[in-house]
Amino acid sequence: MPKKINIAVDGHSSCGKGTLARNIAKSLGYVFIDSGAMYRAVTLYMLTKNLKPDDLKSNPTILNDINIEFRFNPSLQFFETFLNGKLVEEEIRGMEVASWVSQVSAIKEVRDFLVAQQRKIGLEKGVVMDGRDIGTVVFPDAELKIFMTARPAVRAKRRFDELREKGKDVNYEEVLMNIMERDRIDSTRAESPFLKADDAITLDNTDMTREQQAEVALQWARGVIAAG
Ligand code: DC
Repeated sequence: MPKKINIAVDGHSSCGKGTLARNIAKSLGYVFIDSGAMYRAVTLYMLTKNLKPDDLKSNPTILNDINIEFRFNPSLQFFETFLNGKLVEEEIRGMEVASWVSQVSAIKEVRDFLVAQQRKIGLEKGVVMDGRDIGTVVFPDAELKIFMTARPAVRAKRRFDELREKGKDVNYEEVLMNIMERDRIDSTRAESPFLKADDAITLDNTDMTREQQAEVALQWARGVIAAG
């Protein structure tokens, strides 16, 4: 049995890192974890309970009422996000959550709460996790770290098409502004800002197809695994 490694895939909002991470995990038979879905689930919890970021800062024990799970759906071949036992995959991808999630994920208590869970998942190895701080904070010892990016206009177009396909009433400018604002908050926050790890490899997919990206990343992963 070749040894298993952990793979960190960090990248800007809507740059396709989830799709890439999922494809790598599928090809290698690894577990895929979308850490952004965890921040989104906490945000959804706060919105449904009418809580503001300041409520969490003053009373972090609120977090103890939040249970996030990923359950594999074999017919979709996809890990779906459950919040306190309820399937929330669709809800966490909406614009309301998107417009609050960067503020929620800037809260130290939220990060400590989720990073502890993410590290636990990585103990067994064989995990591909995507996010913003996976290579820098969650798995600083990950054997392979990929830093993904693409031009903002291209990311916004992809996200816009995805939302429209789902029948959401959005406009392109709104999506582009949201992406740029999230980039700004994620990279400038005091707690674990979104940074490229020194030992991460950059993958700019502005002009690449999904298949090309997956091929490049898999080559890197297989190279690391073979080097043992
Ligand atoms: O990857 P995403 O767009 O679904 O992430 C949603 C938000 O969560 C994003 O604006 C930043 C935050 N996030 C984070 O701070 N750290 C992570 N590891 C993953 C996501």
